[in-house]
Amino acid sequence: MYNDSQTKELQATTSQLIKSSTICDAQNVNQFRNVLRFHEYRYYVQNNPLISDYEYDTLYKQLEQFEKEHPGAVTPDSPTQRVGAGLIKDFPKVQHLVPMLSLENSYNADDLLDWDRKARELSGLDTIEYCVEPKFDGASISLIYDNDLFTRGATRGDGVVGDEITINTRQIKSVPLSAKFSEYGIQQIEIRGEVLMNKNNFKAYNDGLIEEGYPPLANPRNAAAGSLRIKDTAEVGRRNLEAFLYHVSYFTATRGSSLFKEPTTHSGMLDMLWNCGFRSPKNEMKVVKGIDAVIKYVAAFESRRDDLPYEIDGMVIKVNDLSLQDKLGMTSHHPRWAIAFKFKARQATTLLKDVEYQVGRTGAVTPVAKLEPVQVGGVTVSSISIHNEEYIKEKDLMLGDTVLIERAGDVIPQIVKSFAELRKGTERKIVFPTHCPVCHHKLEKPEEEAVWRCSNINCEAQVVERIIHFVSKDAMDIRSLGEANVRKFYELGLLKNIPGVYTLPFDAVRKLEGFGEKSVTNLQLAIEASKTQPLHRIIYGLGIRYVGETTAKTLANAVSHLNDFATFTEEELQQLEDVGVKVAKSIHAFFNDSENIKILQQLEQLGVQLKNEQKSIPAGGSLLGKTFLFTGTLNKLKRSEAEGLAEQNGGRVVSSVSSKLNYLVVGEDAGSKLEKAKKITTIQIINEEEFIKMLSS
Ligand code: IVH
Repeated sequence: MYNDSQTKELQATTSQLIKSSTICDAQNVNQFRNVLRFHEYRYYVQNNPLISDYEYDTLYKQLEQFEKEHPGAVTPDSPTQRVGAGLIKDFPKVQHLVPMLSLENSYNADDLLDWDRKARELSGLDTIEYCVEPKFDGASISLIYDNDLFTRGATRGDGVVGDEITINTRQIKSVPLSAKFSEYGIQQIEIRGEVLMNKNNFKAYNDGLIEEGYPPLANPRNAAAGSLRIKDTAEVGRRNLEAFLYHVSYFTATRGSSLFKEPTTHSGMLDMLWNCGFRSPKNEMKVVKGIDAVIKYVAAFESRRDDLPYEIDGMVIKVNDLSLQDKLGMTSHHPRWAIAFKFKARQATTLLKDVEYQVGRTGAVTPVAKLEPVQVGGVTVSSISIHNEEYIKEKDLMLGDTVLIERAGDVIPQIVKSFAELRKGTERKIVFPTHCPVCHHKLEKPEEEAVWRCSNINCEAQVVERIIHFVSKDAMDIRSLGEANVRKFYELGLLKNIPGVYTLPFDAVRKLEGFGEKSVTNLQLAIEASKTQPLHRIIYGLGIRYVGETTAKTLANAVSHLNDFATFTEEELQQLEDVGVKVAKSIHAFFNDSENIKILQQLEQLGVQLKNEQKSIPAGGSLLGKTFLFTGTLNKLKRSEAEGLAEQNGGRVVSSVSSKLNYLVVGEDAGSKLEKAKKITTIQIINEEEFIKMLSS
């Protein structure tokens, strides 16, 4: 797309614009646009940025300002024109220029050998040249460019007619708003590809859903497909979608063009798309002669499947010579010149036999589907969380249903759907319990929440889960106690509550099977050592609702002794960073509950440090009073080291992007946090080096 000399020239222009803080005006506006387009390409298509986000944003804001003052000068392919256009009412139906066909599937080497034999017979050739590329597991999309401008984006729909989603497509940064097809003598072109949400962004998106109390999505494919049809375009932008373009379905030549350089092979088409600024699978594909080499490449690629940043569900093998493609033609369903090779499925169908209900440490009752055990992606799955009552209704689940389950990469297995059409009439409705399955206390559900809860604070299930949380790695970190031992000790009556951790009868433990002298000594030492854990770990370990690790740190910094919280009003708590109405209410209630106060007193009597020994955080420090959030992979520092350094220098580390954030420190492959931060003008976006410089200044 950009050759070396263009790259150097654009980079030189960039430096000049930045260094001299050039104002964007009518003379240099195209320079700004070209530079910004170049850096978008480096960032989103090549994954190899040359400037920091902060520098990019500085240039972008210049252009934005100029266009705001001169609305007549805005061009449709200006980098600013990806900005959301508010809410979309409906997606009109549009006809594809050429129907979007699907592919024939193959599952093993024999299938491929058969397919190759037929193609050779039909063509009369001894060996055929093939192009082998990944089969991207996302949502298919069709794009039209007229006279080099992006004019229409559409979903596949039924293959003939799809939904017009042009505005949402403009939010996908790896889709260029203009492309130099004219240099190939092309006037109108329709291209096909796949929209994806990469694994990192998917994880971040799902974590966000879980944090807000929504069930996660089963796979990135559903996330991509769903995102394309969102009616709030700005939200589409926040989802950080990506697109690979792999097929040209139609084009018209520029009349009388002498430039005509129409590619004659599929790999040539991928090169053309790449040269026009698209992310085509140019670097992922391989051109090979004969089916044996295809089989080899496919196997080699499958072994790399888990290391890719996005999901693929197989490979697509295409006859490389376009005139041979024409000769082979198609059936009514699929082209004869291409075939999909499907990798081992990560989906399986099985029977939903029963639903059990688990009670968590906050009393939340979670339904868990018990399944006929089934192999998915190399592991046996026999139970899957089905989240809450609403989810059961949404997915239309019944006892005895055949269900489709999926284990996408390292995502926790999820039920994708039930097959209502396979019901025999013997299936039974799933009736959510009205009482706690453990202590039989009546369950409650506040209107605005999705979860039923047992409000009995002494409910055994909750007590055990609370102890497990208290000793866990991110809380008091008594690893040798662990979940299994907590359950065992609780059942045997050796451990009854959180303070009980510090009165564990070691003589009795020593007599248990599997507990040698050495392991008991280790346990004793670990428990003893936990007494001086920093205050924020105790606060987190207490399991106060809505108080995660970050809020726990904020709280610890606000007091010199844990008991001080008894004197805080809800309003005072809300003055603390990241503490909203809901969180303040929960903290206030916790420290005004006599049972909880009793627990704190017992802990202190048993030697647990409730004083804030750490409150010696630097009185000065170069980062005093500033908040930081780290995202993406850092090169020089580990994430934990960087966070530690920020704190040691008087800064505070927060967990989410909000207007209270001062600095977002961005590493490689930063995702949704970066996008969110870009929208808040008061946040400074810096890279790792800039952060390190701040420490020493
Ligand atoms: S070629 C006429 N290439 O797989 C040929 N399809 O099962 C058009 N897909 O609908 C398709 N990666 O959404 C092609 N590298 C790739 C692909 C690919 C994913 C999807 C596409 C298609 C489906 C067919």
